[in-house]
Amino acid sequence: MMRDFLTELLRVYWFAPPVALWRAVELRTAAVETYERPILDLGCGDGLVGDVLFGPGGADVGFDPWEAQLRQAARLTTYRWLQQADGHCMPYPDHIFATLFSNSVLEHIPSVAPIMREAGRVLRPGGRFIFTVPSDAFRHFLYYAHVRLAAGDTAGAERYAAEVDGWLAHYHYHSPQEWADLLAEGGMVLEKARYYIPEPVEHLWDRMNHRFGLRGWSPWRLLVSPRLRHLPTQRWLARWVVRRFSHLWRTYYEMEVGPGERGGGLLIVGRRAR
Ligand SMILES: C[S@@+](CC[C@H](N)C(=O)[O-])C[C@H]1O[C@@H](n2cnc3c(N)ncnc32)[C@H](O)[C@@H]1O
Repeated sequence: MMRDFLTELLRVYWFAPPVALWRAVELRTAAVETYERPILDLGCGDGLVGDVLFGPGGADVGFDPWEAQLRQAARLTTYRWLQQADGHCMPYPDHIFATLFSNSVLEHIPSVAPIMREAGRVLRPGGRFIFTVPSDAFRHFLYYAHVRLAAGDTAGAERYAAEVDGWLAHYHYHSPQEWADLLAEGGMVLEKARYYIPEPVEHLWDRMNHRFGLRGWSPWRLLVSPRLRHLPTQRWLARWVVRRFSHLWRTYYEMEVGPGERGGGLLIVGRRAR
């Protein structure tokens, strides 16, 4: 039976529903791949995404430079081994992992060529590097950039997209061909490039980030503040979010990128030469 990542992710990210929508489509796309062990999760963060994808004991190693996030990942049972480290210098011997997984990490690293060389080093010959990133269409599919462009305000559209880059700390949006060239730096070849997040889904996501005040202060952020987790109102809110949006956003969750079209997200699979 097909997993319902939308409901699963809304349960995890009930306090930030647009994050749940993006991650649900992302994991629906990533879950199609097979993940041969041992698995390394590069930039695992708080581990919540790895936990949904791999389940208890399902990933071998996770690392991230951000200590507070790692501490949260350590509360889960997903990873056998967690380490504070940076992708530029992975503290592992050569050729030990069968799969490297990385979800929404590489766009936050200004120069990815050195990461690719490290990935190629720790991967076994024939091993795969599976990662997700926002795509070369991401900036074009932002709803509020689109609205400005439609009104002839090209400078305003660019200003808005640049604000989003700054807010999300995105440094680049490579095309599949550019990823193929970067993979080659680590002795890997591009095996698959698959777009996800069709344009209407990214429009909704962008509008909902504003609706839920994910940027700056908002009453919603006050309501879901981690400092108020003990209040029963938050349990009620969490249940309401899951019930309402797993129904309301279902068609967006299930929407596919059409043949020959691009999406706001990109899944890349690279294979290490044998
Ligand atoms: C958007 S979060 C994604 C976390 C997790 N993969 C997920 O899907 O929830 C980006 C993560 O990349 C990590 N990161 C940033 N620079 C990194 C680097 N140079 N090496 C490894 N991880 C890095 C951050 O610490 C952060 O946890």
